[in-house]
Amino acid sequence: MAPVFALLTALAATAAAETIHGVVIFTRHGDRTAKFYPTYSLTNLGAEQVYQSGSYYRDRYLSNSSAYKVSGISSDQIQPAQVYASVPDQLTLYQTSLYFLQGFYPPLGSVNSQLSIEKLTNGTDTQDPLNGYQFVQIHALSTSDPNSIYLKGADDCPAWTSASTSYRSSPEYLDTLNSTASFYKQFEDLLNPILGAGNVTYKQAYNIFDLLNVASIHNSSISSRIDAAALNQTRYLANQWESGMNFNNTQPMRAIGGQTFIQNVLTQMNATVASKGTKQKFSLLTGSYNTFLSFFGLTNLTSTDPTFLGIPNYAGNMVFEMYSDANNASFPANPNDDLKVRFMMRNGSDAGTPLTNYPLWGEGNLNVTYGTFVNKMSNLAVKTPASWCAKCGSLQTFCAAANVTAANSGDASAAGSTGSGNASSGSTGLSNAAAGGIGAGVTLAVVGLLAGLAFLLFGRKRKATAAAPVAHERKGSGSESSSV
Ligand SMILES: *[C@@H]1O[C@H](CO)[C@@H](O)[C@H](O)[C@H]1NC(C)=O
Ligand SMILES: *[C@@H]1O[C@H](CO)[C@@H](O)[C@H](O)[C@H]1NC(C)=O
Ligand SMILES: *[C@@H]1O[C@H](CO)[C@@H](O)[C@H](O)[C@H]1NC(C)=O
Ligand SMILES: *[C@@H]1O[C@H](CO)[C@@H](O)[C@H](O)[C@H]1NC(C)=O
Ligand SMILES: *[C@@H]1O[C@H](CO)[C@@H](O)[C@H](O)[C@H]1NC(C)=O
Ligand SMILES: *[C@@H]1O[C@H](CO)[C@@H](O)[C@H](O)[C@H]1NC(C)=O
Repeated sequence: MAPVFALLTALAATAAAETIHGVVIFTRHGDRTAKFYPTYSLTNLGAEQVYQSGSYYRDRYLSNSSAYKVSGISSDQIQPAQVYASVPDQLTLYQTSLYFLQGFYPPLGSVNSQLSIEKLTNGTDTQDPLNGYQFVQIHALSTSDPNSIYLKGADDCPAWTSASTSYRSSPEYLDTLNSTASFYKQFEDLLNPILGAGNVTYKQAYNIFDLLNVASIHNSSISSRIDAAALNQTRYLANQWESGMNFNNTQPMRAIGGQTFIQNVLTQMNATVASKGTKQKFSLLTGSYNTFLSFFGLTNLTSTDPTFLGIPNYAGNMVFEMYSDANNASFPANPNDDLKVRFMMRNGSDAGTPLTNYPLWGEGNLNVTYGTFVNKMSNLAVKTPASWCAKCGSLQTFCAAANVTAANSGDASAAGSTGSGNASSGSTGLSNAAAGGIGAGVTLAVVGLLAGLAFLLFGRKRKATAAAPVAHERKGSGSESSSV
């Protein structure tokens, strides 16, 4: 681990004089029941892991004694304008966001009893329930919300499904399928009843690892039958399978989830920068391991360090810090040149797990200016729902509106420019693009209505040119079940 040690040393060396202005974290969920069963959810252990993770970042970013305290952020009592959280509307991920934020801003009575009290005019002290439980607004985005693409861009994306499925006809896949057939046989007794005879092969590499891993942690009636070395080998093969599915240099669609996620990071950072560091100082995004893997491939982390080919541990995080190089620095007047950005990874939540700084894009720099970060990342990002819809061939209802908008503007990626957006509040998360798409959709609907009215009034049939949102009704394969 010499390189990691060197990186940590480099990080420690810069810790002396700097001021953090904003942070974006992307987190995986904690320990859960097996994904194979549709009713999976966070376990007690998993809830505790993400709570501990939130608590770790509380120590780093909120504590007055921390060298990394975010400038001007409220230490104990959450200020809603300073914190943004969004999550796919899925049970396990929502639980993750909620427990993380409870670790980040615990019940106020437990950290600052004075602040937790409100006095009524008649002299009575009042406190929120549960010892001053702190309410954090979490934006839960369903897959019918255009903004959900920025958290889970591979879901409901037929082009991702076919690109990733093509991994299963690659020579690499077929070789591994053959060479591991006898290895997987040892699990048939345990797993045939669940996966079905003939399915305990590399073809089910993720499910096999996940079922065994969950059982090894939770099912005492069979855990003794799961050999640790064999389990580790199933993890290794699941990593290979998932990284094959979610990134290939020559097939960008496998990494679509990483491309939209990059835009999400840029959007949240921009909310901090646009407010000159006064708002949205901390953003928590929650999502799936496949988004991590796509991002790792797109940003050359995988070529820098092969550990990035592996699925991150439960409650693992990617962290983007914006900072300047002096103590108690005010927000830089010229953020493009004077605000710095660094990428870090914390691979789990156990005490002692380091937060490690890594270079992006295979370039060896542990930090870059905000301007450089935005330029480099913009080249990798899918920036609008219209663009995502076109690339994915998605059947999502919002794609009907987005596609018409794109057709009108003559440029799929230009659709966002018509939107008025909401960047100043930084709290709705609705991008300019989404606002533009919806706005244009509504406009078209109104045009359609007027045309209909004209027909009624004048008895003249009009040819609809911009046609009411043409539903691109293709029945296609839905996406694979979501990775979480
Ligand atoms: C003060 O007002 C609150 C809310 O109306 C009430 O519940 C409480 O009983 C009052 N206390 C006294 C001492 O009057
Ligand atoms: C990546 O894509 C190339 C070109 O389509 C293909 O030859 C190769 O087998 C793929 N690799 C994997 C691991 O799917
Ligand atoms: C093997 O898995 C596939 C896909 O999940 C399923 O459709 C099939 O029924 C399974 N086979 C058996 C024998 O259960
Ligand atoms: C433990 O595993 C056995 C064998 O697969 C299964 O029958 C049982 O339902 C499992 N128990 C729990 C609590 O998951
Ligand atoms: C995180 O830990 C897992 C499990 O040990 C490993 O497979 C993966 O490579 C690690 N990732 C990073 C970035 O350290
Ligand atoms: C980064 O990754 C991209 C895509 O995989 C590749 O084309 C490029 O050569 C890599 N750059 C470096 C410096 O490794």
